[in-house]
Amino acid sequence: MTQRLCPVWMGYVLLNPLRRLIENPKKLFGELVRPGMLVIEAGCGMGYFTLALASMVGPSGRVVAVDIQEGMLSVLRKRAGKRGLSERIETRLATDDTLPLQDLSGRADLVVALHVVHEVTDPEQFLSELTRTLKPGEVFLLAEPRGHVKAEEFEESVRSLMVMGLQEEKRYKDLSSRISILKK
Ligand SMILES: C[S@@+](CC[C@H](N)C(=O)[O-])C[C@H]1O[C@@H](n2cnc3c(N)ncnc32)[C@H](O)[C@@H]1O
Repeated sequence: MTQRLCPVWMGYVLLNPLRRLIENPKKLFGELVRPGMLVIEAGCGMGYFTLALASMVGPSGRVVAVDIQEGMLSVLRKRAGKRGLSERIETRLATDDTLPLQDLSGRADLVVALHVVHEVTDPEQFLSELTRTLKPGEVFLLAEPRGHVKAEEFEESVRSLMVMGLQEEKRYKDLSSRISILKK
């Protein structure tokens, strides 16, 4: 099991509405999300980004939200229910070994991994399993916190994705994150 796993209590901290001032989901996703998309979000936590994704994909879209902690997913389901978004969000529980996404190979219109790779025991395998779900030509959005993840560590994740056949389209930083947009 990873040494750096975000505790469930921290999941609540990450829902603080003030976070929007430094990390606004709608701004981050911008043009990347369209109605009707199938979006896979790995390491969703309690759904700070998930609910925004679900509202952006609209009633015909779907977000598959994966986390390794049931404590995170159960809070996400409650939050989705309160906002009438349950139909659009499917939660799946990962194990330390694998992501439960085998049935979605080549089906995702967008994959997002936001502030999670630094917690994962085997980042290469994690990124490879996610990449496999993406349709050719579609986008992988990777973001890591600047506080915990140094430039070289982020570079290593981007390099792994490029070895897996993705091409980096854009790299930038905001107040809190290092961000890369890659295409399959
Ligand atoms: C720092 S939190 C970020 C949560 C959310 N992405 C956000 O930014 O608010 C990292 C999340 O990744 C999850 N996680 C860690 N390792 C994972 C793995 N191998 N597979 C899926 N989720 C994982 C943790 O349980 C935690 O909820």
